Amino acid sequence: MKEQLESIQAEALDKIAEADERKQLQDIKVAYLGKKGSLTSVLRGMGKLSKEERPVVGEIANRVRETITAALDEKDEKLEKEEMEEQLEAEAIDISLPGRPVPDGGAHLLTSIVEEIEDLFIGMGFEVREGPEVETDYFNFEALNLPKNHPARDMQDTFYITNELLMRTHTSPVQARTMKANEQNKPVKMICPGKVYRRDTDDATHSHQFTQIEGLYVDTDVRMSDLKGILDKFAKKMFGADREIRLRPSFFPFTEPSVEMDISCKVCNGEGCSVCKQTGWIEILGGGMVHPNVLEMAGYDPEKYSGFAFGMGPERIAMLKYGINDIRQFYLNDKRFLKQYHKA
Ligand code: DAH
Repeated sequence: MKEQLESIQAEALDKIAEADERKQLQDIKVAYLGKKGSLTSVLRGMGKLSKEERPVVGEIANRVRETITAALDEKDEKLEKEEMEEQLEAEAIDISLPGRPVPDGGAHLLTSIVEEIEDLFIGMGFEVREGPEVETDYFNFEALNLPKNHPARDMQDTFYITNELLMRTHTSPVQARTMKANEQNKPVKMICPGKVYRRDTDDATHSHQFTQIEGLYVDTDVRMSDLKGILDKFAKKMFGADREIRLRPSFFPFTEPSVEMDISCKVCNGEGCSVCKQTGWIEILGGGMVHPNVLEMAGYDPEKYSGFAFGMGPERIAMLKYGINDIRQFYLNDKRFLKQYHKA
């Protein structure tokens, strides 16, 4: 019996040494130490031994069990470690791989330029207002001194929705809306950026939809020199301290007198070049003193109140500032174009 036990131990240890998976160790454990295992069945025969032999064999049997158990545990630990190392190796992250860059977004050039203009005027005490893009004929035209059949309506080819509803052709209706809503005739100092629509054929300088920024300042003693002062400040901040402005007489039905503002050409410094069409000046915006009829229709007594107004196209401002020669670039959303103007 003693030999039998010794050979069971030797056999089990061999098998354990050969095993290369943890599952095999489980099987070995069952085969030798399990209920129906070989060691167990030998021990069952111990009853037949003599009294003297029993403790001797019992001791050997215990030692065999302990040896096999220890060998199994040791091997199991070893295999577990190996398995873990294999897994770590397989799942290793190669931190030397270059990362995939996440493209960072940025404000659209048009958004940035509108915000820049807003900031300049906010700094001069103007509030930012909004108005509807679907506008009534009344606010878009009549309240701006453009009665029905007025020939100057032709200056702005209009998308009509019904006889009385249209897509606003300019942001000027917000002047009338702001004043009309101000029933106590408090002073108004506002700018209004927004989309406008015209029945134009798109080309390098025209778009059926573009942006305008309207300005309006109404109080008891507003003069043309206030308009000039504010616009001069705006032009110098926007285009550089060395820019000059000039006001030329012009015509708009809602202002009297009306002006157009030019800035001195940056490219040639006023000498004359292809950008300024050899004049040394570039047209930037229209404006003037709010027409008494416009004040009156909005509920402001023209005897008491005066005001100036102006309107500009931020696309045009950006085109001049950055040398962009096609207005369609603002609407194509070509990232290669837009990326150049992302602020860091
Ligand atoms: N609304 C005019 C346009 O779209 C621009 C304009 C001119 C606005 C003179 C004004 C202004 O407020 O006083 O062409």
